[in-house]
Amino acid sequence: MTSFAKPHAPRDTATIVERLQGMLASDLAATEALLKERAASPVAIIPDLSGYIVSAGGKRLRPMVTLAAANAAGGARPGTHALAAAVEFIHTATLLHDDVVDESDLRRGKAAAKNVWGNSASILVGDFLFARAFTLMVETDSLEILGILSHASSVIAEGEVHQLAAASRKDLPTEEYLAIIEAKTAALFEASARAGALSAGPQGAQFADALAAYGKNLGLAFQIIDDALDYGGTTSVIGKTVGDDFREGKSTLPTIIARRRGSDEDVEFWDRALTVDSQKEGDLAHAIYLIRTTGAAEATLAEADAYAGLAKTALKALPDSAWAQALADLADFCVSRAH
Ligand code: IPE
Ligand code: IPE
Ligand code: MG
Ligand code: MG
Repeated sequence: MTSFAKPHAPRDTATIVERLQGMLASDLAATEALLKERAASPVAIIPDLSGYIVSAGGKRLRPMVTLAAANAAGGARPGTHALAAAVEFIHTATLLHDDVVDESDLRRGKAAAKNVWGNSASILVGDFLFARAFTLMVETDSLEILGILSHASSVIAEGEVHQLAAASRKDLPTEEYLAIIEAKTAALFEASARAGALSAGPQGAQFADALAAYGKNLGLAFQIIDDALDYGGTTSVIGKTVGDDFREGKSTLPTIIARRRGSDEDVEFWDRALTVDSQKEGDLAHAIYLIRTTGAAEATLAEADAYAGLAKTALKALPDSAWAQALADLADFCVSRAH
């Protein structure tokens, strides 16, 4: 399968993350140490399973957003590292739960934890990591940060349930799709950035709204690209099985646009093929064909580009700094994954 072609892919995007990792080297090392330390438990399956997924090579985008936001807002403090670890634990917990819900077999290029330890262990260790995230948050000594992350956690769960409830909708409106991804994905990016700013100390508060707007729009762009990659990516690059959303019968922006732009026959195809029990051999290939030929692929990328643009605009409220630039570059990186 080829990836979506786009003539103006941002330059040197591969180095954007490396550059940010370099700028954050000591902060990321402190965060990684906490991820390892706080997954400890005398019940061996907990460190075994969590070590398996945590060390499998996630991009660490959310902790990087937290740490860079804190630095952009005045400087990371020890509490920022606890916060960054908490954010990654929340993310990891949602992935463990999500792979059970989505019946996905591949995560971060490896067998999903549920395929190794089973659904029950995956869910329960997810709960453990969620709880450990809250212990870490308390260490920031900020009730405001605790409030932001606990609110985001309930919004994520709400988004996942909303998506489940909408699963059989054939004509899911774009607005409802956006509400789902704002909740299940953008809320954590938004909270990571807002809480990161607040963790920098009292002067960070003045940048919290701008960084929250950045995080939310980055998260929307990120999930739209992730949904595009389900039809245009390659399994080896995304570390997840291409076509998972389709096999699950999930409407996402590429299918919503392709269905809306399609002929009556195309609409019939989408309504049958996005019904799990009536899928046939060759349906995924035809879906990819329709997404490309109706221009839905390009339109999806344009939508992600627009949110990445809003993320970068939000950063204009910050003083110019290498950190603000790195956050802007990260928005380019998120959309470049599908270019
Ligand atoms: C996966 O997020 C879940 C989505 C919101 C699409 P990431 O793509 O950031 O996952 P890792 O942490 O890099 O594996
Ligand atoms: C990821 O959602 C889980 C959350 C954001 C809570 P998806 O199901 O869309 O992401 P992948 O494709 O499995 O990573
Ligand atoms: Mg999933
Ligand atoms: Mg899911």
